[in-house]
Amino acid sequence: MNTPDIDVRVCEVGLRDGLQALSHFFPTEEKIAWLRAEFEAGMTEIEVTSFVPPKLVPQFADAQPLVAAATAIPGLTVVALTPNLKGAERGFELGVHKLNYVLSVSRTHNLKNVRREREESLADFARIAEAARRQPRKPWLVGGLSSALGCSYEGPIALDEVLNWGVALAEAGADELMIADTVGYANPALVRRTFKALMDAVAPLPVSAHFHDTRGLGLANVLAALDCGVRRFEASLGGLGGCQFAPGATGNIVMEDLCFLLDSMGMRTGVDLDRLVRVREIIARNLPGQALFGGLARAGLPPLYIPAARRGAVHNQLTSTTP
Ligand code: COA
Ligand code: ZN
Repeated sequence: MNTPDIDVRVCEVGLRDGLQALSHFFPTEEKIAWLRAEFEAGMTEIEVTSFVPPKLVPQFADAQPLVAAATAIPGLTVVALTPNLKGAERGFELGVHKLNYVLSVSRTHNLKNVRREREESLADFARIAEAARRQPRKPWLVGGLSSALGCSYEGPIALDEVLNWGVALAEAGADELMIADTVGYANPALVRRTFKALMDAVAPLPVSAHFHDTRGLGLANVLAALDCGVRRFEASLGGLGGCQFAPGATGNIVMEDLCFLLDSMGMRTGVDLDRLVRVREIIARNLPGQALFGGLARAGLPPLYIPAARRGAVHNQLTSTTP
């Protein structure tokens, strides 16, 4: 892969995926401190909450003040998850820029997660797309394909199923599709096969990736997706994450390590790695005892490391002084 001059979009999902399964309520002011600090470290896209019934997931009872604080930050793309039209309507009202919709390719996971058949989820997405077009500022709609690379209830998922539901979401009005390895079942060969086939089927629609690192293959899967041309990835700081409706799901891929992987290969993310690692302190002070993962935080940057954004300039300087 020829890597220089490639921009890769990374989106922090720790405030949603990372917190949704925790019983401890992360104080609203501290969530705001987290997203501000991460934005200041160069993270320009953050999934800040989920529009689900507070009775079901009390962690997101503060969606309104959180979205208000996030949309007040110029330059930040504010993302939120929604499982249905009712959640999307809250998103329209609050002015989120991007809505991540979830449809699980696994029928069983869809029933457990959103309590309905996949056909009903698809029909609801079509209603969301129609309603979105009527908004004065239409949010970007991501059709998320959960449990697309394996499921803790159903095991392997057939590629045809991923393609059928992906194409259906595209036809219903998605601006982007996302393949999610909800329980960390994938491997690079499966990632390559699935992303290639879906990207061919829905081109030129962008397809993004959401990987969990349950079995340690998260970053290997990122590389496989990069090879296919994927340029948008979700991840969470410290690898927080999990889904209470998908047994065995653990954390997302670690954002700091993802950014280091991309940066060290010369790809631009816009993120300052040292500042990003320091944002973990906000999580640590609010979730004492919670395991935070990541090699970059443990080892630090390599000595004399030059970030990708400065490497071009340094390279030019070196070559111009070479006789
Ligand atoms: N936001 C707030 N309230 C909502 C809502 C939303 N997005 N969707 C439904 N509700 C309310 C309804 O108004 C109703 O309220 P009432 O009891 O006061 O009348 C109640 O919730 C039940 O509504 P219903 O449409 O019957 O939902 P349900 O009980 O079948 O649950 C979901 C369906 C999708 C709302 C629920 O399964 C869910 O939130 N799942 C998401 C799980 C999740 O977060 N997974 C992890 C991320 S992938
Ligand atoms: Zn996830």
